[in-house]
Amino acid sequence: MKFTKSFENQVNKLGSEEQLVLKASLKAVSNSYSPYSHFKVGAALLLDNGELILGSNQENIAYPSGLCAERTALFSYGSSGIKSPIKMLAIIAFNKDKKQSDTCSPCGSCRQVMLEYEQLQKKPYKVIFSYNGKIEILDSSALLLPYAFHF
Ligand code: THU
Repeated sequence: MKFTKSFENQVNKLGSEEQLVLKASLKAVSNSYSPYSHFKVGAALLLDNGELILGSNQENIAYPSGLCAERTALFSYGSSGIKSPIKMLAIIAFNKDKKQSDTCSPCGSCRQVMLEYEQLQKKPYKVIFSYNGKIEILDSSALLLPYAFHF
């Protein structure tokens, strides 16, 4: 993966937990299965108990059967039965040429899933996403989805 010096400097200025979860998302990218889009995405959850749960986008020849990195990580968390709340979610994406992507904010479906896990635990978690050498940090996944679907 290609990083600029300025990206590395930004990472080094983050808090230790933010660095940990962002670096874990980078590790997760290596398990991306994306032969169709060539768009590799890694996601990592840091839980209150210190555990890390990784996810990456998994594609399929029947295209809609694939799943985004964020939901892969979140559903892995949900189905694990681990009760420790989510503290942070980091997401990082790379283009075909292994350069960091220009755009890497979570898709609408992932936002809906991210929000529901936050509402379930009744406590916001930080969302860190990295694109084009920049790092964005939000204090709550709710900020990504105003007017979320609910009934
Ligand atoms: N993708 C993600 O992993 N997360 C998103 O939020 C949007 C898109 C994946 C799905 C697919 O494997 C590839 O990126 C191209 O859309």
